[in-house]
Amino acid sequence: MPYETIDVRPVTKSIGAEIFGVDLNEPLSNSAQSEIHDALMEHQVIFFRDQKLNHDSHIRLGRAFGELAYHSGVAGLDDYPEIVKIHADAESTFVAGENWHSDLSEYEEPPMGSILYMHTLPPVGGDTLWSSMYAAYDALSDEMKAFLEPLTAVHDSNHIYRELFPDVEKTYPCNTHPVIRTHPVTKRKCLFVNASKTTKINGLPKAEGDALLAFLFDHVKNPNFQVRFRWQPHSIAFWDNRCTQHFATWDYFPETRSGYRVTIAGDKPY
Ligand SMILES: [Fe+2]
Repeated sequence: MPYETIDVRPVTKSIGAEIFGVDLNEPLSNSAQSEIHDALMEHQVIFFRDQKLNHDSHIRLGRAFGELAYHSGVAGLDDYPEIVKIHADAESTFVAGENWHSDLSEYEEPPMGSILYMHTLPPVGGDTLWSSMYAAYDALSDEMKAFLEPLTAVHDSNHIYRELFPDVEKTYPCNTHPVIRTHPVTKRKCLFVNASKTTKINGLPKAEGDALLAFLFDHVKNPNFQVRFRWQPHSIAFWDNRCTQHFATWDYFPETRSGYRVTIAGDKPY
């Protein structure tokens, strides 16, 4: 796809591109906004370097691509409730996202995407990996695709948040989604189960459902479907949450890694 306003440099064949030639602290021109969206649809996760993003710009950038979503388990900043702080240091006992997942897949309408800005990184480590669920789907046999096509699965977050926040009495979202979803923009099919949130395949005996999920969770770990991003201070990653999964490494304890995220609302998977 030719781009005229921005410079798009793919990182792998199946997923990920670095974007140059745009200042995200300035309002986007119509053509830049449209080309960033095109690049996201084509590459599924896009990366920007050297963008010292302030909170107002972060929110404006997110809103350029849709309404912002609020997290059911994690509060936003006091003055900017749309922004969630992502932080780990020597005091941390867990980090968010240290398992393959798509964000908030337990929602009835999981997010379209997220924009993560990191300002503080350890000297080495703290990479994030994304896996293309288009590539994961495409690599399955026709027989397996046909078997998965009519299936639905349960996505639940209660087991995660109840362990993390045992003092909070709260019921978190739990919803059923198709195992194979159709991307609403590209119309491509992609795999939509993840190891963090998908707990059950509907309509199969538990042993069969668990074995199928174990196979699929292992399948998305194939490096051929992935990109691994080495953050620098003031890097940004913008991912399409509908057709990717990601994994935040935590190999840098006790060092500090810190940034902010906004999440863009999505629609009901079909
Ligand atoms: Fe995440």
